[in-house]
Amino acid sequence: MNTRLTLAAALALLAGLQTPARATDTFTVDVRKTGPAIEKTMYGIFFEDINFAADGGLYAELVKNRSFEFPFALQGWKASGAVQIRDDGPFERCPHYARLSDPGHKHKQTSLDNEGFFGIGVKEGQQYRFSFWGRVPDGGSAAIRVEIVNPSTMERVHYLCKQKVSLEGSEWKRYEATLSPSRTDPKAMLRIFLEQPRATVDLEHISLIPSDALEGVYRADLAEALADLHPGVFRFPGGCIVEGTDLDSRYNWKNTVGPAENRPLNENRWQYTFAHHFYPDYFQSYGLGFYEFFRLSEIIGAEPLPIVSCGLACQFQNDSPDAHVRVEDLQPYIQDALDLIEFANGSADTGWGALRARMGHPESFGLKFIGIGNEQWGQTYPDHLRPFVEAIRKAYPEIRIVGSSGPDSEGEQFDFLWPEMRKLGADLVDEHFYRPYEWFLSQGARYDSYDRKGPKVFAGEYACHAKGRAWNHFYASLLESAFMTGLERNADIVQMATYAPLFAHAEGWQWRPDLIWYDNLRCCRTVSYYVQQLYSEYRGENVLRLTAGGSPVCGAEGQNGLFASAVRDGKLVYIKVVNTCDEPRDITLDFQGLRKNETMKGVRAVRLTTDNIYEDNTLDSPSGIIPVECPFTSEGRSIGVCAQPYSFTVFVLLQQ
Ligand code: AHR
Repeated sequence: MNTRLTLAAALALLAGLQTPARATDTFTVDVRKTGPAIEKTMYGIFFEDINFAADGGLYAELVKNRSFEFPFALQGWKASGAVQIRDDGPFERCPHYARLSDPGHKHKQTSLDNEGFFGIGVKEGQQYRFSFWGRVPDGGSAAIRVEIVNPSTMERVHYLCKQKVSLEGSEWKRYEATLSPSRTDPKAMLRIFLEQPRATVDLEHISLIPSDALEGVYRADLAEALADLHPGVFRFPGGCIVEGTDLDSRYNWKNTVGPAENRPLNENRWQYTFAHHFYPDYFQSYGLGFYEFFRLSEIIGAEPLPIVSCGLACQFQNDSPDAHVRVEDLQPYIQDALDLIEFANGSADTGWGALRARMGHPESFGLKFIGIGNEQWGQTYPDHLRPFVEAIRKAYPEIRIVGSSGPDSEGEQFDFLWPEMRKLGADLVDEHFYRPYEWFLSQGARYDSYDRKGPKVFAGEYACHAKGRAWNHFYASLLESAFMTGLERNADIVQMATYAPLFAHAEGWQWRPDLIWYDNLRCCRTVSYYVQQLYSEYRGENVLRLTAGGSPVCGAEGQNGLFASAVRDGKLVYIKVVNTCDEPRDITLDFQGLRKNETMKGVRAVRLTTDNIYEDNTLDSPSGIIPVECPFTSEGRSIGVCAQPYSFTVFVLLQQ
């Protein structure tokens, strides 16, 4: 062991990273033998429209019920004067629109207010693209006035900005105007007046999108948060939402492509599920549809992993046989899966490839994976999955198929489904675990003994859910980081992992914890987010063997609550150490397999820790707990470090 205290080592000591020569744990890292490759897909993201993640979240549209397609056509709107909802509009699958006519009195107004999603958040200095489809049914010209207003102020003139838009002729046309609010307001609303002299106007697909929205589609700060995770895989669109409350409300990808104006509304599967919060207005406009998901995968550099319905409705909500499609009637569902692959990858002269090209993407999206079904269970699942596997293998042998092990991390269904997935030849098996502290602490070696032959693992949904503390806090995230050392060590069998759920609107959540929280103007990256980011950033190329007394460091008895793993990235070695206890732990990193003149040199250490383990970042204080870079310049063939109480540290070393 190198016990000389250099100046650099003294500095590291002061920073709490290096210990004097009194190490109590020794981790042996074999830097000579390069272990299994770590797939690029290893750390990814999973998007589901839960907690207002799409409309009201990642989808930058600020107008709720923009096409008047909600079952209560004016939900989200307030109408005054002469407003009528009609259903013979220009978009076949979204036929409703609003007719604004003369209220019949010069002191009355005809107007429409839209409340947005928990209000409309606008920023001073930001431009907003207001657009709609409109016509003057009787011909000639007419005008509307559009304003962004604050609804709560009692001032008479309380608009933040306004514009007049003139309409011409009886043909439906798209109109656009730019609005520039004079001040920031998280709870504004959109108001439209019929201008005088009054003619009748028809309005449809009324939209307000901030000009900084990425590609006019994705809310900028949320898209940026996703890109900053450097995800390797992007699973979408669910989750239970794929299955639907019933098959009619399942996620039918074909309804989500083509012009946004003509995508039919769907009831959100999460609308009725949580008694403590009720969102009778939770629908899917599908403005964020499958094209947008594929495109986002491309933007953030992640492999797309779409999940499609296997003909089983959500078994949690209805598992009677007549809720599901019979196996002999599955063909349309199988065709949907095949068509989706064609939509993603087919050349522009195929039917679905041509649609993708018309939507703006003639090149293939390079789809490599598809998931069939979500958390299905029982014999019915392999029975349903089999014909999908056969058809996909035949038409697209290169596509890797993801099957499911059901909703539990172990137990009867899990034990039944894994062998079934093997028999069917699934390429990956999706495992889900929303589990308490003890589970995460006890599962560090979960994958060490998995059968290496057969399907790989996709840890497709997981998060530490503490009993009685079912919200985001540092300690839960710390345990996730501890568990993830086991994913990393077993990268030969675990090829993908995605935390869930990804997003939650602070005023519209049903499920927590979640990775990223936001309100109308702000966004907060949780500690779990930073855990995911650190794993992704320090993913490395190959696993290195790290042991203590010949065993993996996985929180086992006698390992002092420590978890650790190591990877190589060229000449760099990343060592992740998680201390789940309230005592500091002194550790000697003992490097084996170095050549005679070689040493390891500390480059930096990045540490995530806090004094209050039940705290998390919040919208008011989004950077309370973030990874902190610490000096780490020790050099030697054996280096002493300290794992601070309740900490996750990535030690970066150069082999030289
Ligand atoms: O992530 C929330 C839900 O949890 C998913 O929709 C489902 O797959 C799981 O039960």
